[in-house]
Amino acid sequence: MSDRKIIVTGGAGFIGANFVHHMVGRGWHVITLDALTYAGNRANVASLDGDPQHSFIHGSITDGALIDTLLAEHSPRAIVNFAAESHVDRSIDGPKDFIDTNIVGVYTLLESIRAYYIESARANSETAFRFLHVSTDEVYGSIETGEFTENSPYSPNSPYAASKASADHLVHAWQKTFGIPAIVTNCTNNYGPFQFPEKLIPLMITKALAEQPLPIYGNGLQVRDWVHVEDHCRALSMVLEHGIPGETYIVGGNASRQNLEVVRHICDILDRLRPRTSGKPYTELIEHVTDRPAHDTRYAVDSAKIQAEIGWRPEYDFKSGIEQTVNWYLDNEDWIDVVREKYDGRRLGRTGHRGSGT
Ligand code: NAD
Ligand code: DAU
Repeated sequence: MSDRKIIVTGGAGFIGANFVHHMVGRGWHVITLDALTYAGNRANVASLDGDPQHSFIHGSITDGALIDTLLAEHSPRAIVNFAAESHVDRSIDGPKDFIDTNIVGVYTLLESIRAYYIESARANSETAFRFLHVSTDEVYGSIETGEFTENSPYSPNSPYAASKASADHLVHAWQKTFGIPAIVTNCTNNYGPFQFPEKLIPLMITKALAEQPLPIYGNGLQVRDWVHVEDHCRALSMVLEHGIPGETYIVGGNASRQNLEVVRHICDILDRLRPRTSGKPYTELIEHVTDRPAHDTRYAVDSAKIQAEIGWRPEYDFKSGIEQTVNWYLDNEDWIDVVREKYDGRRLGRTGHRGSGT
């Protein structure tokens, strides 16, 4: 087994790409496997081209033969799985891809790992293999007061959340039944560089820069807990090294905000850094639109376990993290233009209708 070599699936997406850069920067050898869906962007890891510590494979986690080959060729220390369909609105518009990748893809990974790890002598090797499955707090559903913990019951509401919950159950079952050394992390909303501009924060930045309406679903009072993607990546690398197979770790940002508050905050930063030629504030572009069906009202998590057992805590506060993120999008308008080609022509967000919650 290669002690410092890992396979990162979904490594051309938002969090995956940040993780690939994080791990290469820490001296790991990374093999990125990505199907390059609309959300995957080869350019996100292109700066590592030619680096002997990194290689890129174009392929799907649903391709069991490919996974078998990669495991046999590289004998990695771990597979870290980010590959997924990740956007709730798309799962409402068309759930099938979510079933294929998020459930069948994870099943395929687990079966390849079972063949590679369990049905060989590797289970006894001194350096322990790990399957680190990156999941979401959305599996727990919505919570009115208090916080989710690792012991909270699963109660997913969207097709996306249900597909992620299904995958988590498969991972837990394969760990218990077959002894796959798997760990699951359930993280809150990420933000930061490379996030595809269909998600709230980059959508609002890119729409504001294009002088387009900023669509707030319903009354905009829904609450999300925001973690900077670099903090999430650091949590994952620490869990990879110190986490215990069979365990679940919740990762939270300690930064709960209502959606409207987040959008107004972004507008205020843009007013300062890139004032509109009209002189009007960006908040003037805010428009309440029809709510997302089964919209989860509030996510909130308790990260006490990962803090106590792994020693991780978030380092970014939301104010500095969002300022850095807005600056990144302002500095990378070429990147926005490239990904815009992938989403122009498709309805983004649930725009076009005045919502009832204004
Ligand atoms: P993303 O949509 O930006 O990236 C997903 C990546 O997976 C893309 O590069 C895509 O090409 C790739 N992919 C899709 N289907 C694939 C397949 N069949 N085989 C190989 N690659 C495939 O997603 P993200 O926001 O970076 O999320 C990454 C993971 O983290 C997901 O599993 C998501 O559920 C989880 N997560 C995300 C957040 C968040 O706030 N974004 C929070 C918690 C957990
Ligand atoms: O909690 C973790 C999850 O966070 C991840 O598992 C998902 O992959 C990720 O997409 C994210 O899910 P959300 O649904 O919370 O993220 P999104 O950015 O789509 O929406 C954040 C909030 O903003 C949500 O309450 C819906 C609202 N929203 C979103 C969009 C795109 C709007 O009001 N207007 C919008 O246009």
